[in-house]
Amino acid sequence: MVKVGIIGCGKIAQVRHIPEYLDNPNAKLTGLYDLNLQRAKELAEKYDCKSYESVEEMLADPEIDAVSVCVANHVHAEITIAALKAGKHVLCEKPMATKLKDCQMMVDTAEQMSKKLMIGQNQRFAKAHAEAKKLIERGDIGSVLTFKTTFGHGGPETWSVDAGPQNWFFDKKRAAMGAMADLGVHKTDLIQYLLNDTVEETTAKVTTLDKKDSNGNLIGVDDNSICIYKMKSGIIGTMTASWTYYGEEDNSTIIYGTEGMLKIYHDPKYCIELIRKDGGKVFYDIDQIQTNDNQTKSGIIDAFVESVENDTEPAVPGKSVLSAMKAIFGSLKSSELGRTVRVDEEELE
Ligand SMILES: NC(=O)c1ccc[n+]([C@@H]2O[C@H](COP(=O)([O-])OP(=O)(O)OC[C@H]3O[C@@H](n4cnc5c(N)ncnc54)[C@H](O)[C@@H]3O)[C@@H](O)[C@H]2O)c1
Repeated sequence: MVKVGIIGCGKIAQVRHIPEYLDNPNAKLTGLYDLNLQRAKELAEKYDCKSYESVEEMLADPEIDAVSVCVANHVHAEITIAALKAGKHVLCEKPMATKLKDCQMMVDTAEQMSKKLMIGQNQRFAKAHAEAKKLIERGDIGSVLTFKTTFGHGGPETWSVDAGPQNWFFDKKRAAMGAMADLGVHKTDLIQYLLNDTVEETTAKVTTLDKKDSNGNLIGVDDNSICIYKMKSGIIGTMTASWTYYGEEDNSTIIYGTEGMLKIYHDPKYCIELIRKDGGKVFYDIDQIQTNDNQTKSGIIDAFVESVENDTEPAVPGKSVLSAMKAIFGSLKSSELGRTVRVDEEELE
């Protein structure tokens, strides 16, 4: 039995981590902590577990084997590293951290402490993504040439447990990045996963077009990011992240190959459309992508619990996300410098 504590009791903890731990027969929700002590206390009463007054108090509790880190982005690294050093396994929400050196330190600390570190890149678990990966590997669309992958919705100000224009997602100090950190990390990790490839170069425009803070000023983080990625294999494609797709979410990916194309979560009816070069079509009706308003089981919690329980490599190990984070930081740098950036460490340090 894996005894779990959750640090940060906001929206993602409430709609994903808490219900999915409660639903897992090998996990026991043991304690909760949030900067908003009242929030943690009320949830602890509701779910019949402990609440703590500080992170340190939770991490010192020998009853806790593993923690989910579900706090604002700027404290992901600090809390994850403290938890690993306290001997806890960690499932940290995305974005992994706000600086590349912090991401690396998280990975190094997990190795030094021989503890699991998994990152909440749940898009890898979506059924259509898992199936599309198999179809690509089987050669159903031939050799991949190009792609476009996008994640956009109307913004996080209605999602956060502290909803409104003052929410932390809009605050550069706490979020570090905007749509790029919130949504771009999902699609960057996903495209690398689907293609079994890594981003080598990025040419990006990361900007703020429309979102306003409580004073009516444009927010200090991006609300739109458009990146052209060149992969190590030579494949090129675009990754876009947006908080200004008002009216309807877009969470789609299209992969174009020498023998046809795969449209994933593009048609609301069929989660995969395989369209062959000769016009032949195959439709897959195996899933509907979850949206902010329609949360379905992510699978990420079960995978984390399984890796702790069986002492196996987590399904999304921290080190497997480093290359996606390099592409993200590289894109920010590309936009700042107004030129293409190679996503290697010399360019980013
Ligand atoms: N995997 C996904 O698809 C997904 C979806 C949504 C959010 N997230 C990530 O989850 C994290 C939390 O987002 P959310 O949507 O729950 O936001 P939220 O605003 O709803 O909740 C954040 C919570 O963290 C608490 N908090 C902030 N700093 C803290 C600290 N230092 N110690 C303890 N508690 C602290 C806040 O009081 C609040 O309760 C973010 O990093 C976000 O990017 C991931």
